[in-house]
This record gives sequence, C-alpha cells and structure tokens, in this order.
Amino acid sequence: MQHKQYLAVSNIVPATPDTIAQAGALIAAGKLVAFPTETVFGLGADATQGKAVAAIFAVKGRPSINPLIVHVPDVARAEQHALFDARAEELATRFWPGPLTMVLKRRPGSPISELVSAGLDSIAIRVPAHPVARALLAAAGRPIAAPSANRSGRISATTAIHVAEELGERVNLILASGKSQLGLESTIVDLTGPQAVLLRPGAITVEEIEEAIGPVTVGEGDPDRPNAPGQLRRHYAPATKLRLNAAMADPGEALLAFGPNPFAAKHAVKVLNLSDTGDLNEAAANLFSMLRTLDGGGYHSIAVMPIPASGLGIAINDRLARAAAPPDGDSND
Ligand code: TXA
Ligand code: MG
Repeated sequence: MQHKQYLAVSNIVPATPDTIAQAGALIAAGKLVAFPTETVFGLGADATQGKAVAAIFAVKGRPSINPLIVHVPDVARAEQHALFDARAEELATRFWPGPLTMVLKRRPGSPISELVSAGLDSIAIRVPAHPVARALLAAAGRPIAAPSANRSGRISATTAIHVAEELGERVNLILASGKSQLGLESTIVDLTGPQAVLLRPGAITVEEIEEAIGPVTVGEGDPDRPNAPGQLRRHYAPATKLRLNAAMADPGEALLAFGPNPFAAKHAVKVLNLSDTGDLNEAAANLFSMLRTLDGGGYHSIAVMPIPASGLGIAINDRLARAAAPPDGDSND
C-alpha cells in the first residue's frame, strides 16, 4: 500500500487542538505551516514578519512580484489592514467566512509586510471558513499570508499528502484534515477602482457578486504583465499534455471524464471521472487531485471531456485552460 510511504513523511500531523496550538506557535515564531482551507491548502506564515513571508516565496520558488493573500479571522481584523467601502462591506457580509478574496486599498499603517503585496498599494484579503484554518488564525493571533501550498506553476494541493509531495520537509508542519471541500482556489474580486473586476473565477460566481454590488468586469488579464492572480496563460500546470473538450479519448490517452458517458472512454487506457452524475461541485473538488493522479501515470496525453461553461463550470474551465496552455516560461504561481 502507498500508506507506508506517506507515514514516512514526518511533518504531516492530523489537525487536533494540540497540533493546531503547536502550529500557531510556529507561525508566531516566523516558521511555515501548511494548513487546510475550504478551497485548497495554504502555505502560511505570519504576514507581519518580512523574513517569514520571504521564506514562502523561497519555498514555493515563486517570483516575489506575485503578491500573496492575507487570511484573517473576521471583517473587523480585515479592516485593520484594508480600506473597506460599501461594496466591500456588502461582499464581506454575504460571503465571509468563505471562498472570496477581495483586493482592496491597503490601510496606511497596517503592520502587514510590504513583501506580501509585492510593492502594490493594495492588499488581497480573505476570511476562510474551514474550522482548522479558523482555529489556526486564533492560535497564531496574527494575520497569515498564504498562497496555495504548491511549487510555483503547479497544481494546487487539496490534501496534506499532496502538500508533502509538493513541498516536502521545507515546510515546518503540515496540518492534515481530509480533502479540501471545494477544491478550487477562492474567487478574487478587485475593488481598488470604481469598477469591480473579477481577477479569478471561483466557487462564488460573478452572478452572486453582481447581485450584491452590481456589474463586475471580468478581467481578461494581460499575460505579459502578471499583476493579478491566475492571469498567466499557463498557471495550474501538469507535465502531461491536456486535450480539452474531447468527445472521445484517442488510443493510448487517459480520459478525465465528466458525467455519465462511457462512450468517450472507448479507447482510453485509464479513466477517472470528475463526477459520474455531472455534479459541478463534485467535479471542482476532484479536479486537482485527479489531474495530479493522471499526470503521474506516464500517459502520452490526457483527454478532458467538455465541462458546461456555467456556474462553477466557469472556474473549472478557467483552470483547465491554464493547465492546457503550452509552456511559455512565464508561469509564476
Ligand atoms: O483559495 C485561495 O485563495 C488559496 C487559499 C490558500 O486561501 N490561496 C491562493 O493563493 O490561491 P495564491 O497565492 O495561490 O493565489 C492568490 C493570487 C496570486 O496569484 C496573486 O497574483 C493574487 O492572488 N494577488 C494577491 N494579492 C494581490 C493584489 N494585491 N492585487 C492583485 N492580485 C493579488
Ligand atoms: Mg496558487
């Protein structure tokens, strides 16, 4: 069984009150802790300690031009670091705690390290819903900067074991708590200007945000000027080539299926189904772990069946398109 191999990873511990207290102390001491959130696992450090934040960039192999999300326990704490207008208040009321990140103007005098926002005068902030993330924030007693817990340019981790595969012993502690419930990174909306801009689609849809604050521009992003999340063409990248919107797997291909359609699997050498019943929530939760599994299988390529482009399907298709883009050397997350 693969089990044994995993038990050898000494820095994974189940999240319990004791290990969470230990993790909080590590964060306060400037160390790195990987922890579960409802979206994906985060690689956390005290956002107010520049050296700890610098260690995140080093461990991920991430260029320090790409800023990090700050995690806080509640709106009141968020307001210590960012300037909230009526739109931000409304979104916080509706969607926090939860999978929404807001990019806001940084509050002058905030103790958050400048490195977190990579020199921008804005700050990306969110209040996570996962009980372990919340307990860790309480134990650490400080804002936690946390990108997804993967090496730069690779798929986000949705289990503690995937974190260990990505980062190994370079992270001081990995809190384990099953599989990420949502499986896709948070929705990011930029409220620094008069017009709200969607920087990254996620579980909170544009429709839900528009219902709360009115029209939102969907940022196309300029892949050569990556100042925003997930706007690099190739971003969530497996090593194996992906073939999207495939009606049928070619001989020798692995198939990432969606919905009840055994026909597309006819020639496939291996099939994983994101959701047999065609449930987008289930598909989102399975996406990164199934891509990871198929990527490790040594297949010529991975055919991916079409995913409906509505609701959560928009975020899933966004991640798939980035994973399928040819390498161009500019991925930096
Ligand atoms: O679900 C999530 O958001 C997870 C969990 C751990 O919270 N975090 C996550 O972080 O996905 P990361 O670093 O992989 O993606 C955050 C993105 C980055 O690509 C970065 O470009 C963008 O957020 N970002 C951070 N601060 C920003 C800012 N001030 N302005 C524009 N974009 C920003
Ligand atoms: Mg990431």
